[in-house]
Amino acid sequence: MPLSALLLGGLLASSTYALPGRDSPTVHRRACPDYTSYASTPHGPYSGGPLNLPYQRPDPACRTFSSASVEQVIEDVTSRLVDKDLAQLFRNAFPNTLDTTIRWHQNETAAVSTKSNKRDSAQWTGLQTFIVTGDINAEWLRDSTNQLTNYQALAKKDKSIYNLILGAIHTQTEFVIQSPYCNAFQPPSASGISPEKSTQKDTVSPAYDNSFVFECKYELDSLAHFLLLGTEFYEKTGSIEFLTDRWYQALQTVLSVLDAQSQPTFNSHNQFVTNQYTFQRETSTGTETLNLNGIGNPLNGGTGLIRSAFRPSDDATIFGYFIPPNAMMSVQLQKTAKVIKAADGPDDLAEKLERRGSSLANSVKEHAIINHPRYGDVYAFEVDGYGSRTLMDDANIPSLLSLPYLDFLDKKDETYQNTRKMITEKGGNPYYLEGPAFHGIGGPHIGLENAWPMSLLMQAMTSDNDTEILDSINLIRDSSLLGLVHESINVTNIEIYTRPWFAWANSVFAQTILKVAKERPHLIFGDNAEAYVID
Ligand SMILES: *[C@@H]1O[C@H](CO)[C@@H](O)[C@H](O)[C@H]1NC(C)=O
Ligand SMILES: *[C@@H]1O[C@H](CO)[C@@H](O)[C@H](O)[C@H]1NC(C)=O
Ligand SMILES: *[C@@H]1O[C@H](CO)[C@@H](O)[C@H](O)[C@H]1NC(C)=O
Repeated sequence: MPLSALLLGGLLASSTYALPGRDSPTVHRRACPDYTSYASTPHGPYSGGPLNLPYQRPDPACRTFSSASVEQVIEDVTSRLVDKDLAQLFRNAFPNTLDTTIRWHQNETAAVSTKSNKRDSAQWTGLQTFIVTGDINAEWLRDSTNQLTNYQALAKKDKSIYNLILGAIHTQTEFVIQSPYCNAFQPPSASGISPEKSTQKDTVSPAYDNSFVFECKYELDSLAHFLLLGTEFYEKTGSIEFLTDRWYQALQTVLSVLDAQSQPTFNSHNQFVTNQYTFQRETSTGTETLNLNGIGNPLNGGTGLIRSAFRPSDDATIFGYFIPPNAMMSVQLQKTAKVIKAADGPDDLAEKLERRGSSLANSVKEHAIINHPRYGDVYAFEVDGYGSRTLMDDANIPSLLSLPYLDFLDKKDETYQNTRKMITEKGGNPYYLEGPAFHGIGGPHIGLENAWPMSLLMQAMTSDNDTEILDSINLIRDSSLLGLVHESINVTNIEIYTRPWFAWANSVFAQTILKVAKERPHLIFGDNAEAYVID
């Protein structure tokens, strides 16, 4: 999760959001309004529903990528949706990543870029796709993977989407090889787009190049999301085309980070060993830096868990054995093993990933499940291997709420159900926030008066209860009066929100609608409606 717009609101004020559409080379960037401000005011045509939600897609000439198959899905879904406001929200949200965030896409025939490539040693050849998060001109590994999720199912039949996603895998591959500890990246040098200036004063080890990296918070889930981008592509298309030498190199890089981050704070002779990764920021916000001079709180050995210095909110962990990304990584290692096997890749590597993934899953179950006096056996959010733990959940994904979505367990799992009860009520989760206007899980990133739409969407996607699903979706609809899904919303006043332009949340909204369309069409398409499935 990028830094809050509250903090960065002015950063992009002078830049434009869109490259010209590929079909309209004569449109100048200057002609397209800044999308952060465009998204902050309503535009017609309006929905005609009770909320009269606005139409917020940019002018076709200003969209950053266009796809006929995406337009078809919009038509198919919005024509079936009974609720006109929900339809308008889907119309804006589903294409939001393509409309506004494909900052650079290089086609397959571009052998070697003619633009200066001196800024880095990365190989920006062939298909490449650089995807910004929204209002910040940088690519987060996690956000971009999730921004593309909705389009993966279209890639099998639509070559332009296939190339877009394959390019995104290549681009993330280069990011991971060069700076595997970092969470957010600058436009590739081959794009010719200037790097964004960060105003933060950070001291980080290993050192990185700030024309390549936008921010270097080590988040285990960033690496799991890199793997997910590929495994999801394989699952949806059957293609193994991304298993290049560079991708295998990135995978080895990931594994060496996992090795280093499995090291405890004290070695077997009880001597302190400095972790390979340290981070300190000049800040007055506790969650923006690591204590003990950038090391973070001590972690015990022998757990088999992997440390994460930061959360997907980009807030520091309290205890480094942060459970949701460990669960996610265990799944992704095993899925990656399957892809390598399908590609007849190295057997020993596939077996190693398989073993490592299942052993990590066991470590999660062994060390994160604790007995709660009120809820019974539940998953802790973070542990330290000494017996200390944090009981809470944060809206950002991966979260405890999202464990079934991540394919770590079945949503009927009893420990999960206990955990879910705990984290979705005020008495069980300190970051479950409720007020007269809005409620849901929030987190320390924005503060104690703001709940996050993403958590309600995740609640809908992990529920079997029609009422809970509809209530969650309708609450998002009723609090997205600008026709787009925001980062967080003030629980007493829905007009106070953060981030008018946040592509990931819009992607999660569209995912939720598509999941309901497939599994419970009667909820949104009317009684006896047929399921709608993208294939
Ligand atoms: C690919 O990009 C190159 C260089 O920008 C361009 O000359 C070529 O026409 C493009 N090819 C396709 C198929 O778009
Ligand atoms: C379904 O969800 C609603 C709303 O959250 C709740 O009141 C109800 O008790 C739930 N039903 C079951 C069977 O859990
Ligand atoms: C949330 O809204 C209330 C009511 O308008 C306001 O008093 C409060 O300052 C807001 N909080 C934040 C963090 O914006």
